[in-house]
Amino acid sequence: MSSAEAHTLIEDLFSLAGKTAVIIGGGGVLAGEIAMGLAGAGANVVIADLNEENAKRQAQAIRDLGRKALACQADVTRKADIQRVLEATLANFGGVEILLNAAGINSGTPFFEIEEAEWQRILDVDLRSVFLACQVFGKAMVDSGKGGSIINISSASSDPPLSKVFTYSVAKGGVNQITKFLAREFAPSRVRVNAIQPGFFPAEQNRKLLTEERVASIMNHTPMRRYGAPSELIGAAVYLASDKASSFVTGSIVRVDGGFGAMTI
Ligand SMILES: NC(=O)c1ccc[n+]([C@@H]2O[C@H](COP(=O)([O-])OP(=O)(O)OC[C@H]3O[C@@H](n4cnc5c(N)ncnc54)[C@H](O)[C@@H]3O)[C@@H](O)[C@H]2O)c1
Repeated sequence: MSSAEAHTLIEDLFSLAGKTAVIIGGGGVLAGEIAMGLAGAGANVVIADLNEENAKRQAQAIRDLGRKALACQADVTRKADIQRVLEATLANFGGVEILLNAAGINSGTPFFEIEEAEWQRILDVDLRSVFLACQVFGKAMVDSGKGGSIINISSASSDPPLSKVFTYSVAKGGVNQITKFLAREFAPSRVRVNAIQPGFFPAEQNRKLLTEERVASIMNHTPMRRYGAPSELIGAAVYLASDKASSFVTGSIVRVDGGFGAMTI
């Protein structure tokens, strides 16, 4: 193979040109950066987020890259809102090939003090939204007959759980199960379902949890001895989104964590 052929092959493997990606929680720190990466690889992007201002700002940043983008304010704990995002996506782009589920909230409330309302809210945002979005967008992908790629954002807390974040860990364990179950369910329709399991990346939802003591413990347990930068999630996301680069990959949980998940004493 010539170097020109190799170059074309690499471009072809990772190009998302002509694809449309819906990024749920795309107004946030990690998903916003991933959205930029998918757009950089050629995708049109729909940013769906509870926070309308952040969704609009992120969509504009993508347009500034020269790609098409749409902002949708949505509470993804509500199926009707997710349905509305699908309809807006189809109306604007004619189809959807990539879904990233990244809405998330967290809390460090000690176990005996967790009120049912908090438990329910975290499960709704971190787990139920993934179920609902996989139903709504998964159906659209299956019915299209063209396949697709669903990427769920899991967590280092999914298995085994981190200390302090009880409900979040339960939710993220559920996200792993959704990923594997649907990988099997959707495979005949060529809809692949995978997850990215990030280590520690300072962001909005975990800002209050990162106390001095916890940061020391995180660093001691991370062989690379640093936080991740949001841009370090782009490679895994583009790989999993591309139906050429990861054509035989489904049901996988890809760690991007500086070695956290491989660490023991
Ligand atoms: N930051 C980390 O270290 C880390 C590690 C592992 C996993 N994660 C996961 O990555 C994802 C992104 O989190 P982040 O760290 O970028 O935090 P973030 O707070 O910056 O982003 C989360 C986004 O979710 C949105 N959101 C919350 N509730 C919503 C709702 N009901 N409907 C629609 N959108 C809603 C928020 O508005 C926000 O834009 C989350 O699923 C989080 O659990 C983060």
